[in-house]
Parts: sequence; structure tokens; C-alpha cells
Amino acid sequence: MRIDILTIFPEMFPCVLDASILKRAQDKGLADIRVWNLRDWTTDRHKTTDDAPYGGGGGMVMKPEPIFAAVEDIRGEEEVPVILLTPQGRRFTQTVAEELTQQARLIFICGRYEGVDERVREHLVTDEISIGDYVLSGGELAAMVVVDAVVRLLPGALGYERAAAEDSHATGLLEGPHYTRPLLFRGWEVPEVLRSGHHARVAEWRRRQALKRTLERRPDLLATARLTEQDKRWLREMGYHGPFADDGVSQ
Ligand code: ADE
Repeated sequence: MRIDILTIFPEMFPCVLDASILKRAQDKGLADIRVWNLRDWTTDRHKTTDDAPYGGGGGMVMKPEPIFAAVEDIRGEEEVPVILLTPQGRRFTQTVAEELTQQARLIFICGRYEGVDERVREHLVTDEISIGDYVLSGGELAAMVVVDAVVRLLPGALGYERAAAEDSHATGLLEGPHYTRPLLFRGWEVPEVLRSGHHARVAEWRRRQALKRTLERRPDLLATARLTEQDKRWLREMGYHGPFADDGVSQ
């Protein structure tokens, strides 16, 4: 997958892109990530990327010309999704990350200031994404979040560590607890079932723990998670009274 990121702060990216899974994915050729300085597409002496808003008021607005010129250069003749990071976008979730992995290329525009000229949204951008209901100083951190969540899903990116399929949210549930050595730490022991070597019991315990944790922390997820009839029985036993995704659908 090729990913192009347009920003006026390219220096924010190397730390994140050159470490850990993102670095390995690039080294393995799974992701080709390029960060571009929007100022390279300005035409004035001061390399201006923003200007005062028409109609007055505070703040500055990102000018359309360098953004259009940069995206048109970078995408060439290809049809590439152009994603604007903005608090006004659709909310980023694991499902959106999975959806983005289906693309061969992605272009991200990192908004700054009060935002971008509306003509960029209307005539260039194909998708707008927000990473949550809070305001960052710009889209750069949001782009890093989205790129990380997408690239780690590319086949081969996680290596032998573990399957992304088991992650919290990948199943629609939160994951249960994990333990490692030592067996006894400050008097706190690892649950007996995990030491039993009994795979079926371990699997059942993990599933119940995931359900329990989701019920305690994010009961809203239970209404959309894909659950078996056994899961639902366990949840009812645990005191969950809310809806399930397939309520009313005959099995
Ligand atoms: N830019 C500023 N805040 C943002 C957010 N929450 N998500 C995406 N881009 C942003």
C-alpha cells in the first residue's frame, strides 16, 4: 500500500514512522509511506499556505491552490482516495481502518488553523475522518493514528507476534486480561486456568473474560458485537439486559 501525507509540519512524522511496526512494514515493502511538505507547492516568496477568512472573524484558513496542486501531482493519473483529517469527519473506528486496508493508495491531508478552504472539501477530498470528539492542533497526529491502525492490519505487518484478529475491537469486544511470568508476583497469582494447559478451558475463560470486560467498560459495544448464543447466555448470566445485534432475526 502506498500512503502519501501532505502537511506543513513534515518534521513531526519521522519518530512515529521510523519505529516499531510502521518501520518494519516499510522495510518489508508492505507500506510505502511518503510525507510531503505542502509549502513545496506554494508559488510566492513567503511560501504561504494560509490566509485570512472571507467575511472576517478570527483564525486563518488553509489556501486551496497548494493543496490542489500537491494532490494532483502526487496522485498522477490514478484514482486515489483523498482523506482530510478534521474534527468534522466521520469517526475513526477499527471498521474504518479495515475498510481503508482495501485501498492500494491513500492520500492524507493534515488540516491546520481554523480549517481548509471549503472548495478543497467539496472538489478534492473524498473522505473526512476524525479520530475522536476533541480538537487537536492539526491533523498530523490524527494522520499518524490512522496510518498506524491501517498499516498494522496489512498482512505480514505484525509478523509472528500475534494475529490482529484477536485485538480489542477487531472482534467487536474488548480483550480480556493477559499474564506473563512470574507466576507469583508480590503475592498475586496468575489464574489457575491459564496454567492448566487445557486449551478448550483457556479459550472459554478468555471469551468469558472478554465479554465480562466489555460489559463492565463498554456495554455499548455489546449491541453491535457478533456474538454466539453461548456468549449471549453468559452475558445474561452476568447481568446484561441490553439489546444484541441480531435481536429479532430468526436463527
Ligand atoms: N484535527 C484536529 N482535531 C482532529 C481530530 N479530532 N481528528 C482528526 N483531525 C483533527
